[in-house]
Formats: sequence, C-alpha cells, structure tokens
Amino acid sequence: MSVPLTDQATTILRTNDRGGYTVPTAGLYPYQWNWDSAFAALGFAAFDRHRAWRELETIFDGQWADGMAPHIIFRKFDPSYFPGPNIWGSRTDPPSSGHSQPPVVATIARWLVETGNADDEKRARALFPKLIAWHHWFHRARDPDQTGLVSIIHPWESGRDNCPDWDLGMNRMTVPNDLGDYHRRDTDWVDADERPTHETYDRYLTILKFGRECGWDHTEVYRNGPFLMADPCVQFVLMRADRDLLALAERFGETEAVPMLQGWIDQSRRGADLMWSDTVGGYVAREMRTGELSTAITNASVLAFYAGAGTSEQRATLIEQARQIADQCRYVFPSWDPRADGFESRRYWRGPVWSVMNWMIARGFSECGYDDLAHRVQRDTLAMVVQSGFFEYFDPLSGEGLGGPDFTWTAAIHLALQAEHGAQAAA
Ligand code: DGY
Repeated sequence: MSVPLTDQATTILRTNDRGGYTVPTAGLYPYQWNWDSAFAALGFAAFDRHRAWRELETIFDGQWADGMAPHIIFRKFDPSYFPGPNIWGSRTDPPSSGHSQPPVVATIARWLVETGNADDEKRARALFPKLIAWHHWFHRARDPDQTGLVSIIHPWESGRDNCPDWDLGMNRMTVPNDLGDYHRRDTDWVDADERPTHETYDRYLTILKFGRECGWDHTEVYRNGPFLMADPCVQFVLMRADRDLLALAERFGETEAVPMLQGWIDQSRRGADLMWSDTVGGYVAREMRTGELSTAITNASVLAFYAGAGTSEQRATLIEQARQIADQCRYVFPSWDPRADGFESRRYWRGPVWSVMNWMIARGFSECGYDDLAHRVQRDTLAMVVQSGFFEYFDPLSGEGLGGPDFTWTAAIHLALQAEHGAQAAA
C-alpha cells in the first residue's frame, strides 16, 4: 500500500530538520535559507506548532546589527554547496550570505497567530521587534532615495535566481578577468539544463566579489555595485508583509509602529507603479539605472493581488493576462510567460512552476475575488505532487518534477494546502 502524501510530506520535513531549522533539500542546499524556512514553518504548523515557531525564530539567529536577515545562514560548513561562507566573506557570526531574500516571515507569523492561541501570540510578540528591524532595513538600505521601490542587488535576493527578468541587469555587467576558476556544486546534483548557465554563474560571482571587497557595505553595493534591479516579488512580498505586520502591531497595541508601517505601505503602493508596463499589461522587473522594464509577465507579477497593489484598471488588465497564460499551461503558474521569448519549461525560474509562489498567488486571487483562478492554482499545486512527487519545481507543460527531490517547501505547501483547502481543492 502506498504511503499517503501528507505522511510523505511530514517525513520530508522531519528528515530535512537539522535541529531548529531545516535545509531545503539534502546535498543541493545543505544550509538554512531564509524564505525556505518561512514556508517550512507553514508545513510544520500542520503537526507541530512549536517547531513551526522555531523555524521562524532561527532565521533571526543570523540577523545583522543593521536589521538585515540574510538569505543563507552557514551553520555548519558543508563542501557540497558552492559558493560557501569563504566566497561570501561576510565575517558575521554565524557566517551568512551578504544580502536578504523575500520577507515572508511576518505573513506566516500573522497566519500562525490568527489560527492559534495565546502561545502563538506570545511567540509573535517576541519576534515583532526583529521583524520591524528587518523591514525597516529593506525600506532604508534598498530604497535609500525613498522612491517607494525597493531594489535587489543580486538575482538571488529575489529568490527567482535566473528569471529572464534579470537579463537586463546581468547583460550590462562586465565579468572581471580575475574571477578565478571555480567548481559549481549544483550541477553535481541536478541536470545542467534545469539550472542557471555558466555565464550566469560568472555574473553571480562578480556581484559576490564586489560585495566581499567592500565588506558588504550596503550603500556602496546599492550605489556602485554591478547589479541593481527592482523585483515585483520582493516589492509585493514586502508590501504584503508590512500589511501583516501592521495587523499584528494593532493587535499588540504597538501604537508607535502603526504610522510607520502605514507609511511604508502607502509608499510601496506608489513605488509599484514604476514597475507597471502598458506593453506587457502588468508589473514587471525594472533595471534601476536605466529605467528599462522587463518584457513578460511572471509568477511574481501576479503577486500584485497578494500585496493589494494596483488600481481597478490595472487589476483588470493583469487578471486578463493571467487567464491567457493559464490557458497555455497544463499546470499554473509559470515563472515566465510561455508566449514570450526566453521561456524554457524546465530551466529553474525561466518557466517552471513553484509551489511557494502558488501559495501566495492563490491567496491573492482569492482575496480579490478571483476564486476560479485561486482554485485552479491550488488544485494544480496539489496535482503536480500527486503526479511527480515533492520536487523543487515543475514543468508547467508536462508536470514533470525538476531540480532537487524531497524538497522542504514543496512538502510544506502540500501540508498547508491540504489543511486549509484540501477538501475544496480536491473537489
Ligand atoms: C542557489 O545556490 O541556487 C541558491 O538559490 C542561491 O540562493
């Protein structure tokens, strides 16, 4: 008899548990990743709420003095991953990477509070100042001119590593001749055609070299670093997380934080307009130094609904695009519009579907009244796992599982969707 998928998902979370934090998958990603842990907490909540909170709390073991929560914490050296702590050279304790990742934690914390009891409230209160410090860092360090648009200094900061969105910024970069030889480890674990190219890795490392050499000085990296773009994923995840933090501030009587959070939300709403493309009919990434806009809708574009961004006209245009894209795919939502140049159904963020993006997208669609699309996204997310297992990401045309196997966040989202919507989604 086959093991039920919820039991398999629970086993994956337990197996990837390294004591208070999980690794995304053994081998390919042997450290703690920021937004992976946030989503892992959603999965743990289905069977162990204390463990769910530990996953969120340990993200802040690596918080920098200036408030930044880094995207990787290198807790125990593991040579199976490249680039490791020495290449980053952040000189922090614990060693960490030098930039952040989409800030999902406040959203998950609010969700735990609203579905929990007094203990959840106590844990959220303890996390509150750390969350404020992190969000404040984003608005300060990644938007020093207060445009309302936060930037990313590395494609990895978006979490959407090799999306064609970043080609605009990556193609402007000069790779130095003293980068040196290096041995990638990711392609030891996963087929090269499912991962970023070698040319892309050269550029990733060019940014790391710049950051390491300036001691990860955020002002220097923002003003003079090799890469600066605005990302609909970070922008909308932060805007949503600010709204969730505002709800927590009001609940906890944190009156001083309320006007500050409201100000950030208003500013982000205005800033988002700088990413609107009439040509594409949606929000797209923006190259910050030239003002150029990317050329296609992604799964980050449709996070506008989750964030609560856009006028009614913008939403109507975007939802029409989302419907057309959904018609092209067996499974939604693809990370790059299949109708656009550059679509590759198997290569990482250049086409494949990601469960965690789907969880956020479905929430946004549902909150804005697009229940049919929300239902489709939830159903597809569950169905891809039924077809292929708990892979890192999936081909939107065939449903084939790609990237790392036994993946923490895919298991976590499966558990969360089963708990929240299992009955409806299966209907
Ligand atoms: C990787 O190494 O592919 C990671 O996504 C970086 O965060």
